Amino acid sequence: MPSLTLMASIFLASLAWTQPAAASCECGYLVSRGSNLAPQLFTNSIVTDFTDGRTVDIGTYWQRSNYGIDGHPNNNPPQLAQWYYPEDVYKTSEGLADGLAIRVKAYDGSGTVSGGGVAQGFFFYKDNTNEIDIEILSGDPNSIGGPDSLHFTNQPGITDAPAAGFDPAADFHDYRIDWIPGKSEMWVDGTFRSSHTTGVPTVPGEIIINCWSNGDPTWSQGPPTSDALLRVRNTALYFNHTNEAENDAFDSQCAHATGADKICNI
Ligand SMILES: *[C@@H]1O[C@H](CO)[C@@H](O)[C@H](O)[C@H]1NC(C)=O
Repeated sequence: MPSLTLMASIFLASLAWTQPAAASCECGYLVSRGSNLAPQLFTNSIVTDFTDGRTVDIGTYWQRSNYGIDGHPNNNPPQLAQWYYPEDVYKTSEGLADGLAIRVKAYDGSGTVSGGGVAQGFFFYKDNTNEIDIEILSGDPNSIGGPDSLHFTNQPGITDAPAAGFDPAADFHDYRIDWIPGKSEMWVDGTFRSSHTTGVPTVPGEIIINCWSNGDPTWSQGPPTSDALLRVRNTALYFNHTNEAENDAFDSQCAHATGADKICNI
């Protein structure tokens, strides 16, 4: 996905990644990765439950976006202008269940409307060569697949687009990205689905969740003529810092830990 299309997103600023380990887990989180894959240790976690009954607050670490992207009507294919506001990211109990909604509002302007779609993404992002995506397109099937395809990508352009095997709009599913040394791996509902060893990010970045449409008939399609919602129930992030002071604090905290639960198994 080109960076131009990071819309209707909520993002986790790397500056906000300062949550200390909880009282237990002082020596980090050992994340299991399937029976024959080595667990990976991470020093920090941010776990967010969007079904916790808070009506507005989306938690300490996620932030709502507030920005716009100009249209490019003379491009081929043409792209519609988009403005994405904080009010498009909100807590709700409408639809499937309580949780977070990320909305693309119904389009009432003029211009191309194709396939009714939005693109929905869960991704790691720093720049156009440091990005790992899981994306779902809700519009009509075309050459890049329809609503039942999952798109697993290392940018630029390392893509795998298998059939999901389910209707992503019908229920919640567990979408997981492992970014580990030398590879990205994508898992859905605990099942390994895809792996890329080229184009693996090498710099720190942000985790973003978004839902957007610019009318591009070759990707998002749309825009939709009724409101389209991406629903999120919870997120769990396990990560290491690049900040020396944070890592020194972790080492010292772990050196003093004695409990049986000083390493938490995830
Ligand atoms: C994260 O940091 C810890 C502590 O320095 C280290 O042992 C671990 O290997 C790192 N994890 C990854 C995936 O690099």
